[in-house]
Amino acid sequence: MPIILAIESSCDETSAAVIADGQLLSNITATQAVHTQYGGVVPELASRAHQQNVVPVVAEALRVAGISKQQLSAVAFTQGPGLLGALLVGSSFAKSLALGLNIPLLGVNHIQAHILSHFIEEPRPKFPFLCLTVSGGHTQIVQVNAPSDIKILGETQDDAVGEAFDKTAKLIGLPYPGGPLIDRYAKDGNPKAFAFPVVEMQHLDFSFSGIKTAFMYFLKDKSAEFIAENRNDICASVQYTLVEILMRKLRKAVRETGITEVAIAGGVSANSGLRNALTAEAEKRHWNIYVPRFEYCTDNAAMIAMTAHFLYQENKTVGQNASPMPRMTL
Ligand code: KG4
Ligand code: ZN
Repeated sequence: MPIILAIESSCDETSAAVIADGQLLSNITATQAVHTQYGGVVPELASRAHQQNVVPVVAEALRVAGISKQQLSAVAFTQGPGLLGALLVGSSFAKSLALGLNIPLLGVNHIQAHILSHFIEEPRPKFPFLCLTVSGGHTQIVQVNAPSDIKILGETQDDAVGEAFDKTAKLIGLPYPGGPLIDRYAKDGNPKAFAFPVVEMQHLDFSFSGIKTAFMYFLKDKSAEFIAENRNDICASVQYTLVEILMRKLRKAVRETGITEVAIAGGVSANSGLRNALTAEAEKRHWNIYVPRFEYCTDNAAMIAMTAHFLYQENKTVGQNASPMPRMTL
């Protein structure tokens, strides 16, 4: 029975998880509050915080799992994509531990892990399934034929949708990360109050840079009082626009592939507007939908551990010379 320790450090969460024979035993995450005051993740501060957090987070993950270091079969780490300095902390720690224990090392792709987060617990999607991965760094629709057979059907040509949420939030003075706040205020707003022009992209590709510009023009002649008074309606309208862009392409992907097993993954899949739109669509068109539990949507080591479990079965280990790949692709 393989027991794997997994470490995630690609951005601003230091996380460790233990998985035994595909069953998750623990998942511990330390979130870095230090970035809030700067309005975004500061790479150097992220690296330092990872350095401080990694040992206690790993110790806690092992303690909660009731597993000693000597019982581990392998150590997994996020190899990319992500911030180089942040990835270096997790990978160096994982390599040292694997070397000390003389056990194999597994390098995990963070995007593949978001997609395979659906296998942590029931209900698990059946192959082949479609997955819309939406995070601060990625917006992609993929067809998943097997854990390591993933085909990209469409992706963003510029900003990620999470970035679009965060950037528009910043423009109305909300702190970083603004996505969850837009979600919260949108609940009390009218999604049809304001309309923003949307550029239709070809095929299954996305573009989100235009909406930020459109939003900037919208705000240009608006007073601070107007923004404060209409905050909920503005948030609801922005969220509605972004969710519509995602849903339009998802419907197209289902039509083109004929696959009705539909999953969403990544930080933005925590968005309640997207969850509601997906649920409504599923009822109308008889899709089977899969939405991860909130803690498995945003960055976490449980999904890294789940992916490592598959890689271990496939014998896909990496050597001690493995290094972080900030621009790693699927
Ligand atoms: O997957 P994730 O934790 O990190 C990356 O790999 O990027 O995604 C973070 C992104 C941020 O842009 C954040 O604002 C967004 O996910 N996000 C949300 C919500 N929760 C997180 N966006 C909209 N609504 C939410 N509820
Ligand atoms: Zn992520």
